[in-house]
Amino acid sequence: MSPLSGSGANPLRDTADRRLPRIAGPSGLVIFGVTGDLSRKKLMPAVYDLANRGLLPPGFSLVGFARREWANEDFAQVVHDAVKEHARTPFREEVWQQLIQGMRFVQGTFDDDDAFERLRSTIEELDKAQGTGGNFAFYLSVPPGAFPVVIQQLKKHGLADQKGGSWRRAVIEKPFGHDLRSAEELNAIVHEVFAPDQVFRIDHYLGKETVQNILALRFANTMFEPIWNRSFVDHVQITMAEDIGIGGRAGYYDGIGAARDVIQNHLLQLLALTAMEEPASFDADALAAEKTKVLGAVRLPKDLGRDTVRGQYAAGWQGGEKAVGYLQEEGIDPKSKTDTYAAIKLEIDNRRWAGVPFYLRTGKRLGRRVTEIAVVFQRAPHSPFDHTATEELGKNAIVIRVQPDEGVTVRFGSKVPGTSMEIRDVSMDFAYGESFTESSPEAYERLILDVLLGDSNLFPRTEEVELSWKILDPIEVYWDQNGKPAQYPAGTWGPVEADEMLERDGRSWRRP
Ligand code: BG6
Repeated sequence: MSPLSGSGANPLRDTADRRLPRIAGPSGLVIFGVTGDLSRKKLMPAVYDLANRGLLPPGFSLVGFARREWANEDFAQVVHDAVKEHARTPFREEVWQQLIQGMRFVQGTFDDDDAFERLRSTIEELDKAQGTGGNFAFYLSVPPGAFPVVIQQLKKHGLADQKGGSWRRAVIEKPFGHDLRSAEELNAIVHEVFAPDQVFRIDHYLGKETVQNILALRFANTMFEPIWNRSFVDHVQITMAEDIGIGGRAGYYDGIGAARDVIQNHLLQLLALTAMEEPASFDADALAAEKTKVLGAVRLPKDLGRDTVRGQYAAGWQGGEKAVGYLQEEGIDPKSKTDTYAAIKLEIDNRRWAGVPFYLRTGKRLGRRVTEIAVVFQRAPHSPFDHTATEELGKNAIVIRVQPDEGVTVRFGSKVPGTSMEIRDVSMDFAYGESFTESSPEAYERLILDVLLGDSNLFPRTEEVELSWKILDPIEVYWDQNGKPAQYPAGTWGPVEADEMLERDGRSWRRP
């Protein structure tokens, strides 16, 4: 038998045991925008959690860069407080004491050449004191307007150069552009300084366990894939609902809105993972190729007025408390037309999915926080039962529960016990919490570790980002030129127009 035939393992694949913990080699992380919310709530705690799990090298270094007049000790105190408040794993003094050895703060603004020189010498000092080997990732947790200047400064001060076998990487937070044109411009700026394999664009949904599980569910099993197509699937619903409002993020959110904030990235990535073909392997190139293919096959509805809806929350009640409307939120222009809710219908032009609608919706101040992908199946083509027996039977569905109650639900019909024949929906549940003793790492733990390891599987590529904007741009333009967002009271499931959108297709949204 030839080495490539048969059903055994593919000898061309690498032989690393993927179950073993992957530990980062000598390295450090520089965070720009270190005083921001993301840094405090997610990045600093994730670094600590990685250290606590023994996944960082002993000399790992963390450098903060910001305008504040802080000494190294002040920065360390801020990290300490953030870790105490937000870390997932327990605080251990010995881990903290080791981490603090490699903590430095560089004071300056992004256009300050002296500050970038200080950053360069700080990195050189850490290479000597901590053995970081010149390997540094630069995390740009900064407003999009600041990306170009930071990237240019890294270039100007030689910080992007990979000398003597060391590596330099750029980690870029969303939003990656505001539309296709700005994303292309940004890509051009980034790639003038960093090669594609040095750039890591964050979409933190890809770091979530349940999102990676979409691939496991589809491609490590035999029972789902044969029915995962137009012959069996009626439609797919992807929901990302949040109960929170915009909080203190008026400056970021107004003018961006729900579709740009999360459909362009998180929801279209979920669509890509749900709809793509099986990649040849789980490596970054193979995954990106399939995601790119399916995103390139997405088709917009002909009538954007009929098949898209945008909404804005009005005052209402949430969790027993009064919630103000979006236009009354602090810092919001009272005439703002920004969407806090968006629902769109997409189709995919390929043999697997032709004619199967994918409905995507997201919103702030909705009934509850839930993200899920529901693959809803067609009704049985023929029923031997009386129609009264199946009157209350819905459509079969496989629901991937991304959060908060992580798991998978399969919904199907079952006979109600008794002497009559009545069939009703029941569900079979897999819950992470019950099946596994390990708790799931935070998305940012996984993603920061992957950056340090140079593993780019879970980071969207240039093409994916640009294709996603290509999908969204015409919708944004249409919304811009046509009317205002529909209002919905806070704490409800969005505007009635979104319900009507599905009713016109003879379907309805799930109420998770
Ligand atoms: C971010 C959005 O990307 O995702 C926020 O900018 C949103 O508006 C957040 O609240 C939700 O993330 P998660 O992990 O809580 O679902």
